[in-house]
Amino acid sequence: MCALKLISLIMALNEDVFVKQLKALILVVATLFMTQAYADLDAHSAKILDRIKPIGEVCTGAECGGLAVVAGEPRTGEEVYAGACTACHSVGILGAPKTGDKAAWDARLAKGMDATWQNALNGINSMPPRGNCATCSDDEILNAIKYMSGR
Ligand code: HEC
Repeated sequence: MCALKLISLIMALNEDVFVKQLKALILVVATLFMTQAYADLDAHSAKILDRIKPIGEVCTGAECGGLAVVAGEPRTGEEVYAGACTACHSVGILGAPKTGDKAAWDARLAKGMDATWQNALNGINSMPPRGNCATCSDDEILNAIKYMSGR
């Protein structure tokens, strides 16, 4: 709409050489400006959509490159962590104790490893049950806690 108005406005202008050159210049600048404006808008919308996506829907399963269900040996703490816990515990989203933050984990573990483990299995405040890892066994959750807390 805006572009059409601008072009018809320019077409209505006087036809001498100077005006022709001016019109060409204005068209080039207007086109560049609009292209940039639309590109910015797209990038901006993508960022906003990413920021407002609900935290409970962060995809962590095998289908999104996360943990696959493998029968047999329990996965190591590092594997479970990388697939299911890193989204929140690497940067401390919603107050999650950060991986390797000794003081934060000491405070959590003051009540004992078993109680902390139970909280991870059942969920506590913004911490979802099992960190949303439906395929993680109890022992695998424990492995991940040991990995994050450095125990
Ligand atoms: C959606 C974000 C999120 C994910 C994913 C997540 N956590 Fe958490 N976790 C939290 C938050 C937030 C807390 C702090 C909860 C509170 O005490 O307020 C927390 C706290 C914990 C605690 C401390 C519980 C206590 O008793 O203090 C443990 C243990 C834990 N998480 C383990 C895990 C493990 C293991 C995984 C992966 C299998 C995981 N979390 C995945 C958000 C997450």
